Amino acid sequence: MAIRSLFPTRIYTAALPRARAGALNARLLRECLQLARDDRAGRIWSRRNYPGGFTSYASASRMHTLSPTFDALRRVLDGHVRRFAAELEFDLGEKPLTMTDCWVNVMPRGVSHGLHLHPLSAISGTYYVRVPRGAPGLKFEDPRLDRYMGAPPRRADAAERNKAWVVMPASPGTVLLFESWLRHEVAANPTRDTRVSISFNYGWG
Ligand SMILES: [Fe+2]
Repeated sequence: MAIRSLFPTRIYTAALPRARAGALNARLLRECLQLARDDRAGRIWSRRNYPGGFTSYASASRMHTLSPTFDALRRVLDGHVRRFAAELEFDLGEKPLTMTDCWVNVMPRGVSHGLHLHPLSAISGTYYVRVPRGAPGLKFEDPRLDRYMGAPPRRADAAERNKAWVVMPASPGTVLLFESWLRHEVAANPTRDTRVSISFNYGWG
């Protein structure tokens, strides 16, 4: 017999070199926390849409154009996105994938981020600035879940490739990339410390 795996869902993970990540994250953390203090519009928006936490998604969503530190991160991420796009065998023609959005997420204890996707983008991802021990990773949902019809559930000990949900661990200095149609969520932060990440979108054309 033979079983072929078609239409795989690819998730890209990479860790920055430790020294590079340490220096970059110290600056990013300072700026993220500063933004959470200074961005009044973001705090007001977060009150309703990100209860207990702060996100600059609706207020300062192009941080790579505002801060040299975020632009340095953008340059690092460009290389990872290029590699991921090559692995996906995207036929990009003359048009490169470029960062369109880049925003800050600050999640104190108890804050979660519900299931969502990133419409109108090609590649999305997250870079982790501060992840307390025990803080949640990024949970992905099988994109075919709404077509499972009469399918039985998967065994609790099923292989990762057969699971309907997979949590990718988050750790400081790592980047996760995925295609923007893939739904994902972050469970509530059960730790006493604040989890800080930077999310971004890349568009084509
Ligand atoms: Fe997201």
